[in-house]
Amino acid sequence: MTILLLGASSELGRAFIQEFASQNTLLLTGRDCTRLEIIKREAEQAGAKEVRCFEHDLVSGSHALLEAFQGQRIDLLINLASATSNLSDPAIEPEQIEAYTRTDLLTPVELVMALLQAQPSAYNSDKPLRIMFISSVLAMLHSPDRDIYAAYKRLQAAFLQRIAALHPEQVRFTIITIGTRLPRRECTRHHRNIARKAARLYLTHDTIFYGFQGRMLLLLNQICPWLISGMISLSRRSPKNRVF
Ligand SMILES: NC(=O)c1ccc[n+]([C@@H]2O[C@H](COP(=O)([O-])OP(=O)(O)OC[C@H]3O[C@@H](n4cnc5c(N)ncnc54)[C@H](OP(=O)(O)O)[C@@H]3O)[C@@H](O)[C@H]2O)c1
Repeated sequence: MTILLLGASSELGRAFIQEFASQNTLLLTGRDCTRLEIIKREAEQAGAKEVRCFEHDLVSGSHALLEAFQGQRIDLLINLASATSNLSDPAIEPEQIEAYTRTDLLTPVELVMALLQAQPSAYNSDKPLRIMFISSVLAMLHSPDRDIYAAYKRLQAAFLQRIAALHPEQVRFTIITIGTRLPRRECTRHHRNIARKAARLYLTHDTIFYGFQGRMLLLLNQICPWLISGMISLSRRSPKNRVF
């Protein structure tokens, strides 16, 4: 398989790469080239057939990526990139709306459409383009200070689902919803377990959920939504206890 990872330099990306490396060709993208090179070496040690890194800013669109992969069939696109994943709403800068929107919505969606248009005959029901999109439980709740991040997650998932519905033979879409907080620069058992669960289930499941904490939040949210908003607000006061 040839696997394209957007946001490969994230810690979660690293866990996915370890899980998917064996026997596969990996195309790793992100802006942090030094980190991508380190992750590339790890992927090679984990048995990847070939690993290529692309220093790429999603704000600049998808053209450069498409040119770099010209003629290469992508079997699986894993999107872990997000410009807002670590920003609460008060930290969002309205002047950056273009950068956020390109990274968290436009470029990944345009890339999928362009891949389908560039090689329409390459994808069929036997060999579809598989897309894995990493979302958060916050996209399923009213979160008092993460509404912008949550809205981007909901919107991107909705567009990718729409593309999959329009091309049922050619596209298979799996959304992975994470319901636990992951530290950014440390690989924990949660990172590894998410990647393992995704690898085990993505061929057969359209939705994959990870995290007991997230399940409890969803359950309580049905019973008492204002309590959840309050809990999330309170948890934000301590960066250590930040929920997701
Ligand atoms: N951390 C959590 O608790 C949690 C919970 C639920 C879901 N998630 C999701 O899991 C994924 C990884 O999250 P994380 O917390 O590990 O975040 P992170 O460390 O901030 O990773 C974000 C990734 O997005 C890439 N990225 C950001 N802006 C970009 C741009 N303009 N162009 C290209 N790449 C860009 C970054 O790469 P470069 O810096 O190299 O550009 C990085 O690889 C995200 O989709 C996030 O929403 C995280």
